[in-house]
Amino acid sequence: MQTLSAPRFLVTRAVPGPGIALLEAAGPTTVLETPPSYSELSDLCASGGFEVVLTQAADRIDEELLARAALRGVSNYAVGCDNIDVAAAARRGIRVGNTPGVLTDPTADIALLLMLATARRCLEGDQLVRSGGFAGVKPDLLLGSDVSGRTLGLVGWGRIARAVARRAFGFGMRVCFTTVHDGNRSRSPEERTVAGGEAIQVGLDTLLADSHFVSLHVPLSPQTRHLIDRNALAAMRPDAIVINTARGPIVDEVALVDGLRTGAIAGAGLDVYELEPALAPGLADLANVVLLPHLGSATRSVRGEMSRLAALNALAMAAGKPPPHEVLPPVVVR
Ligand code: GLV
Repeated sequence: MQTLSAPRFLVTRAVPGPGIALLEAAGPTTVLETPPSYSELSDLCASGGFEVVLTQAADRIDEELLARAALRGVSNYAVGCDNIDVAAAARRGIRVGNTPGVLTDPTADIALLLMLATARRCLEGDQLVRSGGFAGVKPDLLLGSDVSGRTLGLVGWGRIARAVARRAFGFGMRVCFTTVHDGNRSRSPEERTVAGGEAIQVGLDTLLADSHFVSLHVPLSPQTRHLIDRNALAAMRPDAIVINTARGPIVDEVALVDGLRTGAIAGAGLDVYELEPALAPGLADLANVVLLPHLGSATRSVRGEMSRLAALNALAMAAGKPPPHEVLPPVVVR
C-alpha cells in the first residue's frame, strides 16, 4: 500500500516535548484528550483513519485489536512493549517501535532512590517531621538498614540493570545478577564489568538467598510473570528489600503484601504495580514500603526525548520503512 497523501497519526494521550509537533508537520495528527478505552482504541485503529498510532504502556494492543487494525505501525511511548502483542503485529505486517536508551539512567536513579528510601525509612522520617512528631535527634529513632557493604541482586543484565550496577558500586555494594530470557547465559568478565566494578553472575536461587536488595530489570513476559512469587519471597533473606522499576506483574503483589506483613522480607520499593494503577489490598497500609507512581523515566528532558524518538519511529513507519527503534519478536532483554 502506497500512501500518496500526508500520513495521519493518532496519539492516545498528549506527550511532552517535540514529538507532537514533528507529527503535525508531517500530517494530520489527532491527540486524544482522554485516554481511550480498549474498545474505543480498537475502533479507532480499525477505522482506516490513521497510518500510525502512538501508544503508551497502558494501551493494550492485543491480537484481537491488531486483527481489525488498518495501520502501518504502532509507536510505543515506552521502552517496555509488553502491552503490545509484537508477534501478532509482525504476522500482520504492522511494525512496532519503542524508545530505548534515553530512559536508562533516570530509571536506574529511581531504583537507587527506592533502595535508599526503603532502607533508610525516608517516608516514615518525612511523615514524622511533617506531623510535628520530631522531638530532636534520638539514638534509636527510625533505625534502618545499611546500603554500603550490602549485596545487590539484579534480575536482568540489560542496559538498566547495568546502570543500576554502576551506581551501586559507587555506594560500595557487592553486585550480583542473573538473567532469565537467555537461560542465564554465562557472561565473560568483560560483559560482567561496568564502571566501578565487576558483578558476579549467579543463579536465581543464589541471588534470592544472598541479596539484601533484589532489584528487577527484566521485561514482562510469560517467563517473568510472577517470577517473584510466594516461593521466591520465602527464599529471600528476612532482611531483604525488593525493588521493582520494571513491570508490576513480575511480582505476585498479593504474595508480596503477605511477605511484608509476616516478615518473610523486610521491605519493598515499587514504581510499578501488578494491576496498575490499582494496588493489592493492604499494600498502601504498610510502613515498610515506598510506592511511586511509575516515575522511572519521568524527567522533563527524558520524557521530551522519548516523544522525539516515538515521533521519528512513527514517521518512518508511516512512510513504509522500519522505525529507527524497531521491536521485533521475540522481545529481547532490555
Ligand atoms: C516505562 O515503563 C517504559 O517502559 O518506558
